[in-house]
Amino acid sequence: MTTGTARADALTPAALLIARLLPAAVVLLAAPLLLDVALGAPGAPAELHRRAPDVLGKAALGTLLASYAITPIATLSGWRWHIVLRRDYGLWTFAIAATDLVLAAVLDERGWQAGIAGSAGLAAGTMATLLLIPLALTSNRWSMRMLGRDWKRLHMLVLPVLLLVAVHLVFIGSDAFAIAFLSVVAVLWVLRLGAVTRWIGRVRAGRT
Ligand code: HEM
Repeated sequence: MTTGTARADALTPAALLIARLLPAAVVLLAAPLLLDVALGAPGAPAELHRRAPDVLGKAALGTLLASYAITPIATLSGWRWHIVLRRDYGLWTFAIAATDLVLAAVLDERGWQAGIAGSAGLAAGTMATLLLIPLALTSNRWSMRMLGRDWKRLHMLVLPVLLLVAVHLVFIGSDAFAIAFLSVVAVLWVLRLGAVTRWIGRVRAGRT
């Protein structure tokens, strides 16, 4: 007879694979827009410029939050199998945000400077994306070994990234998104505090 634990163990690789591939759905969402541009359909670049930031922005927001949530989920659940997703989702965030940035630079009729920094909202999105570069470049075992303690310090850059994304959302007029985003970030931040993590650990140990 299969026990609950054995069944969960058997499901874990499948769950992990689905979770790892989930952000790829954004590529499928953007595919028709990109195909139109590639085929030279009239008005396609303008349509891509109009719709891509929304699709890519929401996807980047989702993967950024997912990446930031992996450690609190481990604290609450005791799971370890999903830890690999922290890096995956971080890299997805960078890839999606960088695509957003490149499209903004290439497709804006006013020129690339206006495309990436023509308003406070755009400049904040650009800054957030640029700050993701060192994080993406060092999200590997070799960098962790080379940087030692500095690796953790460097990865604290995620905090200004989160702040800049909130500023981006406020200045582009997405107040509802900004409030929802900051609320989730605040909960996740509290769950990451050493005292809170230790308290949850004690509660979990008391139950087992
Ligand atoms: C980590 C990076 C980023 C995140 C998390 C992000 C997030 C978002 C989200 C969630 C939206 C949708 C808001 C809504 O539907 O109300 C959005 C829209 C937008 N984003 Fe970003 N974004 C990022 C980077 C960028 C960059 C680099 C640019 C361009 C330089 C950019 C330009 C825009 C524009 C133009 C919109 C559409 C505003 C509108 O519909 O009026 N974003 N972004």
